[in-house]
Amino acid sequence: MKKLITLFIFVCCMGGMRAADNPNVKKLFSVTSGELKLTFMVGTDDRLYQLGFGDAAAEVVPSAKMPSREREFLPPYGNGVLTEPALQVTHVDGNTSTELHYIGHRTENLNDGISQTVISLKDPAYPFTVEIYIKSYADNSMMEIWNTVSHNEKGKIVLHRFASASPVLKAKEYWLTQFAGNYKREATISEEQLSEGIKILDSKLGVRAHQMRIPSFILSLNGPAQENAGEVLAASLRWSGSFQFAFDVDWNKNLRLITGMNPLGSQYYLERGGSFTTPAILYAYSKQGKGEVSRRYHRWAMKHAIRDAQKDRPVLLNNWEATHCDFDEERLKELFNGARQVGAELFLLDDGWFGNGPYSRDDDKHGLGDWEPSTKKLPRGLSYIAKEALKRKVDFGIWLEPEMVNPQSELYQKHPDWIITQPKRTPILGRHQEILDLTRPEVQAFEWDIIDKTLRPNPDITYVKWDCNRYITQPGSSYLQPADQSHLWIDYNRALYRLMDRFAKGFPNVMAMLCAGGSGRVDYGAMPYFHSFWPSDNTDPLGRIKIQWGFSHFFPANTISAHVTRMGKRHLKMAIDVALSGAFGIDLALDKATAEERAQIADAVKLYKERIRPLVMHGELYRLVSPYESPLASLSYVSTDKQKAVVYFYQTKDGNEPRVMLGGLDAQKKYRVEEVSLAKGVTSRFPANGKVFTGAELMEKGLENPLNTQFESAVLILVANN
Ligand code: DGJ
Repeated sequence: MKKLITLFIFVCCMGGMRAADNPNVKKLFSVTSGELKLTFMVGTDDRLYQLGFGDAAAEVVPSAKMPSREREFLPPYGNGVLTEPALQVTHVDGNTSTELHYIGHRTENLNDGISQTVISLKDPAYPFTVEIYIKSYADNSMMEIWNTVSHNEKGKIVLHRFASASPVLKAKEYWLTQFAGNYKREATISEEQLSEGIKILDSKLGVRAHQMRIPSFILSLNGPAQENAGEVLAASLRWSGSFQFAFDVDWNKNLRLITGMNPLGSQYYLERGGSFTTPAILYAYSKQGKGEVSRRYHRWAMKHAIRDAQKDRPVLLNNWEATHCDFDEERLKELFNGARQVGAELFLLDDGWFGNGPYSRDDDKHGLGDWEPSTKKLPRGLSYIAKEALKRKVDFGIWLEPEMVNPQSELYQKHPDWIITQPKRTPILGRHQEILDLTRPEVQAFEWDIIDKTLRPNPDITYVKWDCNRYITQPGSSYLQPADQSHLWIDYNRALYRLMDRFAKGFPNVMAMLCAGGSGRVDYGAMPYFHSFWPSDNTDPLGRIKIQWGFSHFFPANTISAHVTRMGKRHLKMAIDVALSGAFGIDLALDKATAEERAQIADAVKLYKERIRPLVMHGELYRLVSPYESPLASLSYVSTDKQKAVVYFYQTKDGNEPRVMLGGLDAQKKYRVEEVSLAKGVTSRFPANGKVFTGAELMEKGLENPLNTQFESAVLILVANN
């Protein structure tokens, strides 16, 4: 008998809850996921209406009147619906309207407390169907929604809009938090109250699409978002391409959230018998503020959306800040020695190791696309240099940017037609490079070959940093037919996922960091193929604190790479303490550091590996004091058994936050507080150091904070003694 217990309720004439006394209701049913409930009604007109979306405890009663057409769950364009459509189609006969009638739904219990509901809709006049998928993760009050459009009309239909979902919320006020920014200022938080009309948050960049905004947001109902209280719905689109989120508040204070791939310039032609699946939008709901919403995303991701979630991320030494493209075998060996001395576990060789002759990758203008090791810098090849690292007990990783080409390269000379650009236009370069057109099968084969020929013969390479340093400015493909040019935005990213999937499956023991000129591509579409991501090229602790803070709303700490570099006016201790709160690494020339600095870094690596890493990798995040609201930033990770915690304090400005209330501890347990990450001979200024407090005291009265000056920082470890 199958292990899956399948509950199959295919409803044509039975099932669901009936609101028998309401003449407008043919069927009423809901999907519940922990605290979150989504309620549907099928009207006597056979349309699928959405009633509630929110608190599972709230009773949802259909009104005596028929819902307005704007309450259709996936409002289609053109036949009486006045709201912003979620789906817009031109049928083969030119009809621009679509009707969606409910056919049935079924719910299947998958393993692990997950269930999946599929709702089938059909246009009564056309062989055109939509299946809405709702996956619910009850443990975390999370729901993932997407849909598949299929048709059997005699020819091609045109999809103009294809939102993943468009639920409606009802509250007195809606407060929207977004995470916008740019290179070196990624995931900057801002919050605003929504008023009537449509607000759009989007990306139009296609590739490295999230450089200016991550595809995630938080909505707080009835007041600004709070960390530990209030009703909050967050959402994250599992898509690495351009996206569009429309927040449409109507005159009646209903808010429709239309979320999905950006339809701009992306109309999609679907052949007879074809289907089109949208990416999923992943909602998390909490009545205990955004702190709990973040922990829900993290728990979910640890189970479902990041590679080898339970595996420790290695302490790595990256050479980008230290050398840029200027290195050779001898220089690398010096860096390996430094890595060994401080206890780093892996050396990550960044950009600059490839390209020959006139195309030697000595700067960012040359060589991209020519993935042969540089005979000038690495005359004995990758295998030799990886072995040299291993000799020093340091693992070896490498940087790749498979999607790109410099015009100054052999590849470009051979295949100028492989780039994304438009006819009769002068190509616009970004970081002196072009994007290879991944819709073209030869490019797909070429990019796989880069990965395969770098890794297959060199099994000592056990880590890859996958970079992507520009976005699309001229969306055109010499491979796609003139009529299908608008497929580029979507097909590029679909091909990218196939490539990433092939990489993850083909090299299951190679760990991988997702990077895109900082964090231009961080989302749960790509993260299942990676272990961590590079949040920003800004490693100045003052900037980094806020950037990591932003990403922490959706991504667990083991995915957030954090390196100690020389950037910024800061004490080395602060750079170390900030890096200790993520997947710790170093990116500076250790051989050029002073003996004292090297010792300080070596102590930090030891502390991280022995005491902090388990909490960063597996603990639960509690954000305590926001750098947006105070001169202090403070956060902590608490072990799931609540026996241990690590607490970080960073002064981003002068000023004192006298007490910091901890979170997530066991109120009854007694915790000994110990300040760590202290330079030799320095004694703690924390009055709590060495003392024991109950969890209740630490959470209600807080920890006294003696720091008050910009660039001061501290790390405290709490251990329960019972
Ligand atoms: C951009 C990345 O963010 C950097 O860390 C580095 O890898 C460079 N690219 C290399 O070109």
